[in-house]
Amino acid sequence: MRQSIIASILAFAASQVTAQTTVQSAPFYLVLASDNTTINGVAIYPCHYGAAQEGMCIGSTVAAGQYQFNTTTASATSGILTWVLDNGQQQYSLAMGLESTNWNGQESNVVVPLFQPDSVGATVDFDSDGMTVETYQTYVCETEVLGFLTQTLGLTSAGVTPNNPTCISTAVNRVFV
Ligand SMILES: *[C@@H]1O[C@H](CO)[C@@H](O)[C@H](O)[C@H]1NC(C)=O
Ligand SMILES: *[C@@H]1O[C@H](CO)[C@@H](O)[C@H](O)[C@H]1NC(C)=O
Repeated sequence: MRQSIIASILAFAASQVTAQTTVQSAPFYLVLASDNTTINGVAIYPCHYGAAQEGMCIGSTVAAGQYQFNTTTASATSGILTWVLDNGQQQYSLAMGLESTNWNGQESNVVVPLFQPDSVGATVDFDSDGMTVETYQTYVCETEVLGFLTQTLGLTSAGVTPNNPTCISTAVNRVFV
C-alpha cells in the first residue's frame, strides 16, 4: 500500500518535470569542512522524514549517503543535487529542494535540504570551495523539520545570520566514491 502511494506520488512528479537535467555525475559523498572539530570531516547521510521525504542529516564519519549532480549539458556548472530513493522494488532519482524549519515553536530563517518527488530542485554549484546552493550560505544546525528534531545541513540567505543559535558555519565538499 505504502509503496503504491509512493509510486503514484513519483509518477505525478515525473509528469511535472520541465527542464531536463539528465547529464549525471559519478556518485559522491558529501563531507563537512568546518573550523569546528566536532563536525569537521563528518559526512551527510539521508534521514527519513516521511513517505519519499529524505533530509540531509549529519552523521558518522562513515559516509552513508551517495549523491549525484545533474546538469542540462556536460559543460554546465550549475545543476541540481540528486539522490536515489530505493523502495526495495524500484529506484527513483529525486532532486534536492528546500524546506522551512521551526525553532522554539517559531518559523526560523533557516531552511533545510529535502529530497522529495515534487521538488523543483534548488540550483547547486560545485567549485574549489565545495558545494554552493545558490544565494545561500551553509551551516550545520539542530533543526525542527516536519516534526523531527535532528542535526542537519541548514541554509540561510546570503548575508543573513541564522536566528537558530545552534547553527555552526561549515563548507560541504564532495568526495567521489
Ligand atoms: C538525473 O539524471 C539521470 C540520468 O539522466 C536521470 O535518470 C535522473 O532522472 C535525473 N534525476 C533528476 C532528479 O532529474
Ligand atoms: C562544535 O559543534 C558541536 C556539535 O554540533 C557543538 O556542540 C559545539 O558547541 C561546537 N563548538 C563550537 C566551539 O562552536
